[in-house]
Amino acid sequence: MNQTSIQGDTTSPPFPAQQRICIIGMGYVGLPLALAFQRHGEVVGFDINQQRIDELRQGVDVTLEATTAELQAADQLSYSADAADIAACNVFIVTVPTPIDLSQQPDLGAIKSATELIAGCLKRGDLVIYESTVYPGVTEEMCLPLLERSGLRAGVDFGLGYSPERINPADKERKLADIRKITAGLTPACASQIDALYAKIITAGTFPAASIRTAEMAKVVENAQRDINIALMNELAIICDHMDLRTYEVLEAAGTKWNFLPFKPGLVGGHCIGVDPYYLIHKSQRVGHHPDLIISGRRINNSMGTYIARKVTRMMTQRDIEVTRANVLILGISFKENCPDLRNSKVVDIHRYLLSMVASIDVYDPLVRSEDAKAELGIELCAEPISGHYDCVILAVPHDSFLQRGADWVRALCRQPCLVYDIKSALVPDLVDKTL
Ligand SMILES: NC(=O)c1ccc[n+]([C@@H]2O[C@H](COP(=O)([O-])OP(=O)(O)OC[C@H]3O[C@@H](n4cnc5c(N)ncnc54)[C@H](O)[C@@H]3O)[C@@H](O)[C@H]2O)c1
Repeated sequence: MNQTSIQGDTTSPPFPAQQRICIIGMGYVGLPLALAFQRHGEVVGFDINQQRIDELRQGVDVTLEATTAELQAADQLSYSADAADIAACNVFIVTVPTPIDLSQQPDLGAIKSATELIAGCLKRGDLVIYESTVYPGVTEEMCLPLLERSGLRAGVDFGLGYSPERINPADKERKLADIRKITAGLTPACASQIDALYAKIITAGTFPAASIRTAEMAKVVENAQRDINIALMNELAIICDHMDLRTYEVLEAAGTKWNFLPFKPGLVGGHCIGVDPYYLIHKSQRVGHHPDLIISGRRINNSMGTYIARKVTRMMTQRDIEVTRANVLILGISFKENCPDLRNSKVVDIHRYLLSMVASIDVYDPLVRSEDAKAELGIELCAEPISGHYDCVILAVPHDSFLQRGADWVRALCRQPCLVYDIKSALVPDLVDKTL
């Protein structure tokens, strides 16, 4: 459908005056959104995971994005895993996962089934908005035809749009309302309806993008840019290693220039930065361009876990630590600090590599539920590290709780000689051992 052909169309769908919002997918993105919207009216939080729904009803959020008090105070928010409960809604916002498959291709299965669910109960005047990260074209080329199977026409009978999410889980300073939000609609009428809807909850303001495709592209570009910049720092860290230079000292010096960007080397995991560039790669290849730089950035970042593990074994040998008899402790297994999310955690690569080399590995992460680590990664977490037991401690994910316990706590876990490897230089200068 051509946006200009609809401009000024008097048959534009009426904006539901009394909005009853349904958020589909109650995860890291969907729950904060539902909590924000329920301050303005009734919201149904829908998820296919019955356990998630049961926990939310009991005031438990395993993603740690909402406290029990916040969940209990949300009196206009109900939760359901039953499709019948969403039929009376007139605004549908899709926040389901968009991962990659084993061949690193976009897996749009959840977005497709969420769209089919909406199509089954779509009514004239409803509004459908996608927030899940996708490559440009998914909303109009895949979702729109599925929604129109309802017999209703997008932009005429129902509104359609896209508003990418920029939430940063575990960020206590910058919450949903504080992050400016891109909005876009299929027609000018849809665009202004969607923008007005988000303006109610986003105090930082909205940015109406030129089109749905522009908004879709903007989201994947944001994360591809970050991925490439981190890849550059990772490559720099490898070069520094060869030259026996400390990367953080080089970056500290370079950072005194006014236009030097403060990126750091590190593991790139999770559901966004390590995944979204594959969506862009996929689309780029489909339109006939081979995106060398983006692919190369992905390759470098994907290799860092194994690189660090190799380096750790080399350094143990240099310190007369017998690798095959070493007890290793990994502190932190989630993909980033202060967050229990295990998706695509690259610490797993370090664990996998070392497992075949050393005598034992304990993994300690107080933020992660041990049943999740077992089910998702096949890793048994230890209840508490053992004092004076380890020949090597890897501070992989610097949760605040580790930093609060400090370098002395880390040292007390070691027996001598010991290697302490602080991947993100989180305890520098207290821990002066080698970092990335
Ligand atoms: N987590 C982030 O930091 C973040 C930030 C910005 C954008 N995003 C994007 O937002 C989307 C959601 O990410 P997330 O981190 O919230 O994922 P999540 O895995 O935390 O949550 C998704 C939820 O959707 C549910 N679900 C799966 N299929 C469903 C279906 N067919 N119908 C209903 N519910 C279904 C799952 O059970 C899960 O609870 C993804 O596209 C992601 O790339 C995530």
